Amino acid sequence: METHEKQELYRDISAELKAVIAGLEDPIAAMASCACILKERLPQASWVGFYRVVAPGLLRVGPYQGPLGCLEIAFDRGVCGAAARERTTQIVPDVEAFPGHIACDASARSEIVVPVFAPGGELIAVLDLDSHAPAAFDATDQEGLERIAEILRPALRESYVPLPAGRPH
Ligand code: SME
Repeated sequence: METHEKQELYRDISAELKAVIAGLEDPIAAMASCACILKERLPQASWVGFYRVVAPGLLRVGPYQGPLGCLEIAFDRGVCGAAARERTTQIVPDVEAFPGHIACDASARSEIVVPVFAPGGELIAVLDLDSHAPAAFDATDQEGLERIAEILRPALRESYVPLPAGRPH
């Protein structure tokens, strides 16, 4: 897909997401709607979903679309852990070249993970997209998905209630 087509697609997706979650202060409903819209609209994405921060240093799978994802990821593991730890987007063109990549889906070849913040700046979750194609995600996806994380922010306000940690992993 050409860069301008992708930019246009993200503009459409952003507008759709904004309309769907307008006035909503329910993080799970917002994340579920977002995962659905992205999976439906981005042809290169084989898995789209959220890992939520449920305890210090621990992510647990949240709303997603695609094959079964791993249940929990510590901040010191995988691409999701790196995005959470560093609070920055990670683009991985070749998952096999990323040390510590967690292969939930053996067919995944590339990945992008974007941090998701509450209005106060607290890290709430990461948004993870996988693809069966190598190098499927680039700076245009980063820009589009970071914008989407911004659109989600108001829905995350105040209604975020951490789930109890405690499941061994
Ligand atoms: N590959 C991710 C794990 C999550 S799954 O891809 C759904 C990682 O390395 O963090």
